[in-house]
Amino acid sequence: MDNPFIGRDVISILDFSRKDLEQLFRVSREMERFRKSRIDVLRDKIIALAFFEPSTRTRLSFETAAKRLGANVIGFSAAEATSVAKGENLADTIRMLDSYADLIVIRHRFEGAAKFAAEVASNPVINAGDGKQHHPTQAMLDLYTILKLFGRIDGLTYAVVGDLRYGRAATSFIYGLTLFEPRKIFLVSPPLLRARTEVLEHLRRRGVPFEEVDSVESIIEEIDVMYVTRIQRERFPDPMEYEKVRGAYRITLELLEKGKDSLKVLHPLPKVDEIDHRVDSSKYAAYFEQAANGVPVRMALLALILGADLESMGVRL
Ligand code: NCD
Repeated sequence: MDNPFIGRDVISILDFSRKDLEQLFRVSREMERFRKSRIDVLRDKIIALAFFEPSTRTRLSFETAAKRLGANVIGFSAAEATSVAKGENLADTIRMLDSYADLIVIRHRFEGAAKFAAEVASNPVINAGDGKQHHPTQAMLDLYTILKLFGRIDGLTYAVVGDLRYGRAATSFIYGLTLFEPRKIFLVSPPLLRARTEVLEHLRRRGVPFEEVDSVESIIEEIDVMYVTRIQRERFPDPMEYEKVRGAYRITLELLEKGKDSLKVLHPLPKVDEIDHRVDSSKYAAYFEQAANGVPVRMALLALILGADLESMGVRL
């Protein structure tokens, strides 16, 4: 079968079609077999992880994915540890990584940083988060998690809760849903943290049914998936603005018990105080499983982009 991923950059989830994602999810399923072993299809590859912003799951799951595929990993997890601290510009750092490695994964606080890196680099670049804008691989694993839990992404009712203004994971998740046919998306946030105009316009253009609401209580009985996010404190230009919304919402077990029996709560993590810790061990919590799914999905993505010979290992493309 064709591999539409080969050599591609991953800047936005909207760079991909539904068909592309369905193939990615099929290969991710196959990668689950190698979650605790190795499939040495990228033995001669080096993957650069350029994390200019903090990360736990994204960086470590990319690293785990690369290693389970037999690749080597180079990189850094803080700009302070690199020559950027000496004033080196992003273009020079990327040019150098491009000459060392076969693929670059980048996270940066500036919107557009990954796109810029992709223009400078000749090797593929994966956006692991650029400011408030995009986090496409998070959306991939979010959608994969829903597919595993419900057997489908279409026809479900979603609530995306929290900081829709500054949250790139929430934004990419909403964009990702528009590639499918959700029954409805509720955008739930305090008025100050509403989704950005470009996101709302995209929803309208795609004809996806959505509604903006202030709180989750009024819609709890309708939803199948609740995607919760933390308030992105570090992205507020004004600390006073943050004080106005801090602690504005909290998901409790009592609230979830009013919803469907099959309701699932997702969260890109890290969570701070927006989910009552009693939810963690309840049947609603899917966020730890979701984080674990980062490994097979990123394995599939790296293998497909780098054109690994998966078929000879018995993996159908
Ligand atoms: C998210 C991010 O960095 O955008 N984390 C992640 O990658 N899982 C969400 C967040 O920081 O709130």
